[in-house]
Parts: sequence; structure tokens; C-alpha cells
Amino acid sequence: MQLQHLLGIEYLNPQQINTILDLADHYANKNRTDSRNSNVLLGCTQINMFFENSTRTQASFEIAGKRLGADVMNMSMEASSIKKGETLVDTALTLNAMHPDLLVVRHPHSGAVDLLAQKVNCAVINAGDGRHEHPTQALLDALTIRRSKGRLHRLNIAICGDIAHSRVARSNIILLGKMENRLRLIGPATLMPTDINEFGAEVYHDMQEGLKDVDVVMMLRLQSERMDGGFIPSEREYYHRYGLDAGKLSFAKPDAIVMHPGPMNRGIEIDGEIADDLNLSVIQEQVEMGVAVRMAAMEILMHNSRQNKKEMNE
Ligand code: NCD
Repeated sequence: MQLQHLLGIEYLNPQQINTILDLADHYANKNRTDSRNSNVLLGCTQINMFFENSTRTQASFEIAGKRLGADVMNMSMEASSIKKGETLVDTALTLNAMHPDLLVVRHPHSGAVDLLAQKVNCAVINAGDGRHEHPTQALLDALTIRRSKGRLHRLNIAICGDIAHSRVARSNIILLGKMENRLRLIGPATLMPTDINEFGAEVYHDMQEGLKDVDVVMMLRLQSERMDGGFIPSEREYYHRYGLDAGKLSFAKPDAIVMHPGPMNRGIEIDGEIADDLNLSVIQEQVEMGVAVRMAAMEILMHNSRQNKKEMNE
């Protein structure tokens, strides 16, 4: 599996997706035991560069790296020279000169992480770029679905809410499509991407119709920081039409699972009681799988980079 970077699901084939998920599954089980720490990444320097706020993604990349024995550094981008006018590429080149093995990057601009990967000579993981991709989120969602449904194909999956501004939606649509699931996108027309027809998914503007008989209900946060105007009439109206409550959920299959990448706006996208109901919601499991998926992705990238260096020295 000759992956050098993990920049997007669009660059992965189903076999590579399964390889990452199989290793992540192993780590998910190991993380539940007392022997969750190892030396797989001993001697590796991992730098987390987050140019946008993050709670669970940054924490789980840090825990994943430490659990595998890497030296992990969190750059505070608020305090970095970016504030003094340095460009993203200059910052990356400065860090590159310190010989890190892995950069984990989140950035508000779509495409910024791909650009950065071309400029450095270490592995790069995209931890979310603008509205473009968030590959480790889609992989952790896939692992959560696979563990809970026993398979990752031929499922009816609804992705609901602010599809237009969501990199989580984009990466999930690509991944779940590649694994041959039936996708439905549900939300107001104002929150659907303009290139929606290219996704090969069914589009619904009504939750009851869209949720009928689905196996998986994936809710999304309203990405107000990426909106430059009024995309919804009001939060109250939005909750009424698109917020997941017991009434709307009753149209899904009785054993449907409810997902949300977090951070969650209770009472806007989702009823708090549904989010907390462990018989329905796998939201905490998504967080748990996040650590396992990131461990797997980092192990694979570091293995490949060691292999490449070895071949170059021979
Ligand atoms: C998502 C993100 O940052 O794209 N969050 C996450 O990584 N768990 C979704 C969001 O911010 O709504």
C-alpha cells in the first residue's frame, strides 16, 4: 500500500480503505485493554498544525501518536509567525527544516493541505481543509458503521443538514460511494452543493421521506463560520424541518444508528435526548474509533516512508 500522504478519500481505492479499517479495528480492540501503548512510531516526530479550532480531532491525533510512541508537538498557530504575516508555505518549510516525520494539518482553505504536501518531504495528513476533505473523519465513521452494522456495503445511509459547507459530508459521500452503499442527502436546497448531481446520491428536502428505511442517519453541524449570508430562515425553523427528533427518526429502520461528527448543536441539528440515547446513538463510539483510525493511518504512512528511505539508500 504505497500511500505517502493521507490527503483525501478521493485518492484511496476500496482495498486501501479496507486495509486502513482492518488495522484500525485491531487498534480499537487493543485500545480497550491495558496494553494499548506500543513503540511502533518510536523515534518519529509528529507535528500537529491546526489553523482552525478543533477539540476531538486534535486530541485524538495527539493521543494516537503518543500511544504509538511518537514525539508529538502541538504547534499553537495562534501564537505562530503566521500572525506576523508568514505564509502557510513558509511556515511549513521552516518546520520541514527541523526534519519532522509527519505533519498533521487543519486549515480553513480548501486545497491548502494538498499544497503544503507538495512543499515538504515528510508525510502529511489532512485533518480537514475548508469544505474540501476530512479523510480521517470519514474513515472513523466507516469503522463505526462497519462495527455496528457488521458490513460497509449495501447500506442505506442518509447524510443530513449542511452538506454544502461540510468536508465531513464530502469525504463520507466519496468513501461510502466507493464501498457501494446507497446514499441519500437530506437538507434544504440552500445547503446542497452546486455539483450535487456528480455525487451519485439521491437528494431529499424532506426528512420523513429521506429517512424512510435507512440503516444509518448521519447528522451534520450547521457550518455558520463558512456561511456568508442567510442560508436558513432561523435556527428554530431549521430544527423544526431538519433537526433529528424522535418523530423524524421513527421513519428510519428500527435498528438504525444515529451519528454526528461533533461538535453538536443540541436543539438545532439534533435533539439532545437522541444524541445521548446509547441504544440509538454511536456518537461516543465515533470519538473512540477516531483514535484507532488515526493510529492505523499514521502507522501505515510511517511504514511506507521508512520503506522508501530504505530503498533510496540501497
Ligand atoms: C468536523 C470538522 O471539523 O470538519 N468536526 C470534526 O472534525 N469532528 C465537523 C464540524 O466542525 O462540524
